[in-house]
Amino acid sequence: MGPYIRPQRLRVSAGVRAMVRETRLHPADFVYPLFVVPGKGVKEEIASLPGQYHVSCDMAAATAREVSELGIPAVMVFGLPEYKDECGSSAWDAASPVQLAISRIKTELPEMVVISDVCLCQYTEHGHCGVFKDNRLDNDASLSLLAKVALSHAKAGADMVAPSDMMDGRVKVIRQVLDGEGYSRIGIMSYAAKYASAYYGPFREAADSTPQFGDRSSYQMDPANSREALREVALDIEEGADIVMVKPAMAYMDIIRQVKDTFDLPVAAYNVSGEYAMVKAAAGKGWINEQRIVLETLTGIKRAGADIIITYHAMDAVRWL
Ligand code: PBG
Ligand code: ZN
Repeated sequence: MGPYIRPQRLRVSAGVRAMVRETRLHPADFVYPLFVVPGKGVKEEIASLPGQYHVSCDMAAATAREVSELGIPAVMVFGLPEYKDECGSSAWDAASPVQLAISRIKTELPEMVVISDVCLCQYTEHGHCGVFKDNRLDNDASLSLLAKVALSHAKAGADMVAPSDMMDGRVKVIRQVLDGEGYSRIGIMSYAAKYASAYYGPFREAADSTPQFGDRSSYQMDPANSREALREVALDIEEGADIVMVKPAMAYMDIIRQVKDTFDLPVAAYNVSGEYAMVKAAAGKGWINEQRIVLETLTGIKRAGADIIITYHAMDAVRWL
């Protein structure tokens, strides 16, 4: 006599497995990140992110078109400016690459959802996400600058702004400034639970945003904490966030799940540069099957509770679905 109850009955064929599958990836789950640089006709592979490119704003629009043709509804734009200074003023310069790319993409593809990363670290000489006073990060002085950045993106045509700086109170100030200037329809996707992570290494090389001294652990979260993540998310929701993000994704799937179970807003997860680079490196060596690893990982992130996944794998993943 063998077992009476056999879970394998639901795995006997591809058809049965498809019927009982709980989690399915869809092109609309994804947001594709873009790194925009000055110039025209530029498309250069990023050394730390094989398969990803530095693009000028014209090429950014061309890439956005490919993204859209795959059924992916949104891009997230990051800019590399022409100049850096103490306070990151190129971040709100209407002629900087991000602003130009946003308006170019929205002109050519009005249906594309353009989300802009709002931060100062690519734009400040010291590479931190806020400004300094007396050798200390000045949270409160950073807020009005971040709001200026968000407003400049809204003016360029962004549909949604995504503050990634982790300054306390920034969602509220951004909301107030956007509303005050007539941009109440622009959404805020806040990097609500953003950890001080070693997984951002390849991004910082790609965005030239490595801090020139110290690290980000006085403003990004301690990887050891989960209750604090719920507190951060609760605050951002109170301040007016429309979508809350957990970042990185793979080492923080428990956080994604807790945020999903605790709040009723859409949850985004950022499958960050280091997660991508590790897959690319191991796949390049022939140690893993890239396609299977990527789809398994993205399925895991969605199963953990992510409604939206920001990932460098987005275009490949959709081609493999
Ligand atoms: C800038 C920013 C970072 C990322 C997104 N926005 C880097 C950081 O905070 O150091 C990381 C994205 C990635 O690693 O893919 N604040
Ligand atoms: Zn930053």
